[in-house]
Amino acid sequence: MKDFEFYNPVRVLFGKDKMPKMADLIPAGKRIILLYGGGSIKRNGVYDRVMALLPGRVVAEFGGIEPNPSYETCMKAVEKIRAEKADYILAAGGGSVIDAAKFIAAAAVYTKGDPWDILSKGEPPTAAIPLAAILTLPATGTEMNKNAVISRKSTVEKLAFASPLVFPQFSVLLPDAAATLPEHQVANGIVDAFIHTTEQYLNYPVNAPIQDRFAEAVLKTLIEEGPKVIANPADYESMSNLYWSATMALNGLLSCGVPGDWSVHDIGHELTALHNIDHACTLAIVLPGILTVLKEEKKGKLVQYGERVWGISTGTDNERADQAIELTENFFRSLGVKTRLGEYGVGADTVDKVVERLVKRNWIAFGDRRLVTPEVVRKVLEGRL
Ligand code: NZQ
Ligand code: ZN
Repeated sequence: MKDFEFYNPVRVLFGKDKMPKMADLIPAGKRIILLYGGGSIKRNGVYDRVMALLPGRVVAEFGGIEPNPSYETCMKAVEKIRAEKADYILAAGGGSVIDAAKFIAAAAVYTKGDPWDILSKGEPPTAAIPLAAILTLPATGTEMNKNAVISRKSTVEKLAFASPLVFPQFSVLLPDAAATLPEHQVANGIVDAFIHTTEQYLNYPVNAPIQDRFAEAVLKTLIEEGPKVIANPADYESMSNLYWSATMALNGLLSCGVPGDWSVHDIGHELTALHNIDHACTLAIVLPGILTVLKEEKKGKLVQYGERVWGISTGTDNERADQAIELTENFFRSLGVKTRLGEYGVGADTVDKVVERLVKRNWIAFGDRRLVTPEVVRKVLEGRL
């Protein structure tokens, strides 16, 4: 196992009966601003539930944060925060709202110039307004991590940043709120959590058996519980299992002591930036391609994954690796997530565009062992048309 540092200060309030405790966790006297998206929290009762817990508190509102939240919208929220003199952010919704809240929290008090530099130049935030989250969509893990991904419409970019300053102080995980999710969003959540796990697991062996088994536990749970949640998102128990799997997939625990790859995400973000394809769908397209093109380099873990997660116990290592990749793609498809660029109306011209954009940013060797070169990206995407 590699050396590592693990720090995660997020207090988790898991489940509907724990929600009321949130009122005690927001310090008295704070001027709260509630951030939300396109209105799902108003339709499914989460907005009313939150407000009912905050009688007599100062609560401003900013709605309209879009999926794949934009820098432009975030900066409007910053203006609102300044106008309202808000000093506590409550974000209610999916990953987009919570990611936006993290960037807004940092941008509102950034003292070194243009807050876009936090994303484009990797400038560390100088401070952040305290924030907390109420999660209505299990997928990203943002409720328990320090990451956020923001898009800029004017430059067609989608970039990430991470800072310990933007860990939520607490997150309410509300499996009952997710009962109103459309089926494709539930499927997206399962795929996103699955691929967060593979990014930290399907790399090269470093003799970290406990980490491997944590990852395998998450993957197996997603395979078992995913179809139940798709069939009935109001199944509170199965939805709870999906929630906790998605949180565990990206709260830092799985990455302890093991290499992280993240090339599937890096390529996927380009597809979202160019074609507005849902985040998880981009991952479902790219992962089978990365595993196929880098099969030799990832074979050790692919064979282990095939055996422990999918029960593949016969055949040569090569056959087992192929079968593991096939079963993975079939799983995504069984959830209704398409896995080919053509199925999203994207053609071969996009391959050049993605390669060019990555090269321009000097991302010419990424992934766990820096094996993902422009040639590899090209091969991966050409194989996914
Ligand atoms: O905007 P509203 O009206 O709230 O509707 C949302 C949105 O349209 C809706 N929704 C959310 N909860 C609902 C609901 N509809 C009905 N009932 C509910 N309970 O679902 C739609 C999608 O929401 P969104 O927040 O965009 O989805 P998700 O949670 O998948 O987040 C995706 C974003 O997170 C980023 C992605 O890149 C993408 O921008 N990621 C963030 C990560 C992180 N911070 O660690 C890691 C991930 O890899 C990912 O990149
Ligand atoms: Zn993701």
